[in-house]
Amino acid sequence: MKAEEFRRHGHDLIDWIADYLENAEVYPVLSRSQPGEIRDQLPQHPPEDGESMDLILQDFREKILPGITHWNHPRFFAYFPANNSGPSILGELLSAGLGVNAMLWQTSPAATELEETVMQWLGELIDLPPGFHGVIQDTASTATLCALICARERVTSHSINKWGADGLAGTGSLRIYTSSEAHSSVLKGAKIAGFGSENVVMVETDKNLAMDPECLDRRIEMDLAGGLVPCCISATVGTTSSTAVDPLVPIGEIAKRHGLWLHVDAALAGSAAIVPEHRWIFDGIEAADSLVFNPHKWLLTNFDCSAYFVRDPEHLQQTMAINPEYLKTKQDNRVNNFRDWGIPLGRRFRALKLWFVLRNYGAARLREMITEHIGLARDFGRWVDESQSWELLAPVPLNTVCFRWNPGGLDEDELESNNKVLLDRVNADGTTYLTHTKLRETYAVRVAIGQTNTREKHVVQAWEKLNEVAAIING
Ligand SMILES: Cc1ncc(COP(=O)(O)O)c(C=O)c1O
Repeated sequence: MKAEEFRRHGHDLIDWIADYLENAEVYPVLSRSQPGEIRDQLPQHPPEDGESMDLILQDFREKILPGITHWNHPRFFAYFPANNSGPSILGELLSAGLGVNAMLWQTSPAATELEETVMQWLGELIDLPPGFHGVIQDTASTATLCALICARERVTSHSINKWGADGLAGTGSLRIYTSSEAHSSVLKGAKIAGFGSENVVMVETDKNLAMDPECLDRRIEMDLAGGLVPCCISATVGTTSSTAVDPLVPIGEIAKRHGLWLHVDAALAGSAAIVPEHRWIFDGIEAADSLVFNPHKWLLTNFDCSAYFVRDPEHLQQTMAINPEYLKTKQDNRVNNFRDWGIPLGRRFRALKLWFVLRNYGAARLREMITEHIGLARDFGRWVDESQSWELLAPVPLNTVCFRWNPGGLDEDELESNNKVLLDRVNADGTTYLTHTKLRETYAVRVAIGQTNTREKHVVQAWEKLNEVAAIING
């Protein structure tokens, strides 16, 4: 593509994205596409001859866009947000333009040193105690996998790295402790890292759905008595279902007493710690060996960008290091080569978009956004609580509300089926997108507030929509 053509399409595309972001609300937030519908419109074979960008972009608008679920829509309340912003998109574009692979310091010194800087900035923003070192990963799942592998290698003195499963010879199985509300990435990481899913102990939670430290301690003692080898605790700060916060102070004491690795998964909630009022979520974080949170969820940085902090970067590097001749450089002993701080060799230049965001918004504006989202979630929680026909199913410590429609006189099965119908109808309407979860055995509808452009009116509209659909179902 010639520079002139690139320039023209680039300008058009930026115009399109700017309009899209401004008007994301006009699209149905949840795509109405049926399975196979998009694929059926696409040719079965790649073109032999190149096609014009005009035609490709026209096909994008006509064939691909209808299959997009709009994460940028201000009434996207599903899962957790992957929020986004102009500076982040520009940073992403620039990173693509530079085409840098940030695997080694030498392959772009600025990529490594900017990453070191923004991670130090993030640590400062969440008031992380001294002694943590940061690196950007793609996702929280990858960061948690790294943490589990590091825990495994610390407890086995690097013998599994060397000998595989034989490195465990003569010892019992390695055990991971996490709460029954933890994200599935812990279980997945345990499978991939060779612990085995049966060696993940799902510790009971308290009335707030946070890990119960007494149960944790008891489970560890039982395992020790049974000849098993406790290895790692993965605590969750902000569970996926309800943003429950595991108490890090007592969990940290237990980890210390038993010599266990403490990983903290704060994928969504970590960003809230930039607001002093919400910093309590990290009380006790000084005991952690590793921590992950996702600026790509709640810090205006488009997917993907996960902030991973470790206490002992040397151990991380020793666990991950590979040093083939072709990757050696003469600066190796003076710089960070981030290829050894995680799983992939090749690494995107993600620091650029994070830097754009942190500079262009500034800490104060980011704090305002988090404060506003949490305030809106609390308002929503109060509306639910004060209503006769709705029931709040969990506390609302941060930005997520779990609730159900409960007009009275229905048994648990009926409540579940009615709330499923309610959710389907609300989502089918295209104005609002919510998802569900189960809290223990109870089916709950969830509202997670964190989209960049969500304002009070959007939350009010979602509440009105829920009530409107509930009234129709009620006849
Ligand atoms: C607590 C928690 N941990 C981990 C994840 C996985 O995040 P990622 O998609 O970055 O792997 C999520 C996703 O919502 C989450 O809520």
